[in-house]
Amino acid sequence: MARLTITGEDVFYAQRLTSDAESSTVFIHGAGGTHRHWGHQIAGLSGTNLYAPDLPGHGRSGGQARTSVTSYAEFLSNLLEALGSTRATLVGHSMGGAIAQDLALNHASQVDRLILVGTGAKLRVLPTILEGLLNEFESTVDMILGYSYSEDAPQELVDLGRQEWLATTPGVLHGDFMACDHFDVRDRLREIRCPTLLICGEEDQLTPPKYSQFLQEQITDAQLTIIPKAGHMVMLEQPEEVSRAIAEFMKTTGA
Ligand code: COA
Repeated sequence: MARLTITGEDVFYAQRLTSDAESSTVFIHGAGGTHRHWGHQIAGLSGTNLYAPDLPGHGRSGGQARTSVTSYAEFLSNLLEALGSTRATLVGHSMGGAIAQDLALNHASQVDRLILVGTGAKLRVLPTILEGLLNEFESTVDMILGYSYSEDAPQELVDLGRQEWLATTPGVLHGDFMACDHFDVRDRLREIRCPTLLICGEEDQLTPPKYSQFLQEQITDAQLTIIPKAGHMVMLEQPEEVSRAIAEFMKTTGA
C-alpha cells in the first residue's frame, strides 16, 4: 500500500513489486469501484510490478472524482509518469476499460498491452440509472446491482458490492456513469496497435459479450476470452478464471 501526490491530489494505490521486474501492470477499477476489485489478480500475477490505484474521489484516495473518461486518462498518464513507468500493461474494468482505451489512443507511448475486462468501445448508460442516482440513490444502486452479477453469484459478494456502492457519494457514482455515457471510440479502434486481451462474463448485462466481440473485430491484435457463470463483475465472480486468462496472455505476449 502506498500514497503519492499527483498534481495536488492525494492518491492511494495498492502495489506488489518484484525486485528484478522491468515491466509495470496497472489495474484500473470501474464506476464507483476501488483497488479491492483486483485483489485476486494482484496476489496471483508474477514477473511484473503491479499497481492498483483508487481513482480520485474513490476509496482511500483524496482528490476530485471526474466526469469524463479523458480526464481520468490524463490522471492515469500522470500517475504512470510518477511511478517511473515508461510503458505499462493496463488492465481496466468497465469504465476502467474505457480509461485504458483512451490511454492507448491518446497516450499510446505509455501503453505496452491492454487487458479490457467487461467493457466496450461505447458505454451508453440506461437513462433510469443516470436519473435515479441523483433522485433515488439506494433503489438505483439495487437496480444496478441486479444487472451486475450472474444469477449464480454468492449473495455475500452482491452484499459487499452493495456496501461499497452505498459508501460512494451519489455525485461520484453519477459522475462516473456520465463519463461512461459520453464515451464512444468505436471509430478509432483501428488505431490501437498493442496486443490486447478482452475478457467478458458470459452473462454480463451491463456490457454484454457483443461489446467485447466488437472490440475483437476492430482492434488489430486482439483475442477474446468469454468466462462462463459470470456477469459484469467477472473478476470478482470467477477470479481464478480471470487471473488464469491474464497470466496466459502475459506469458504469450512476452512478460
Ligand atoms: N459495442 C458494440 N455495439 C454497441 C456498443 C458497443 N460498445 N454499444 C452499443 N452498441 C450497439 C447496440 O447493441 C445497438 O445495436 P442494435 O441496434 O443491433 O441492437 C446499437 O449499437 C445502438 O445502441 P445504443 O447506442 O446503446 O442505443 P440504444 O438506444 O439502443 O440503447 C441503452 C441505449 C442505454 C438502453 C443501451 O445502451 C443499454 O442497454 N446499455 C447497457 C446498460 C447500461 O446502462 N450499461 C452501463 C454501461 S457502464
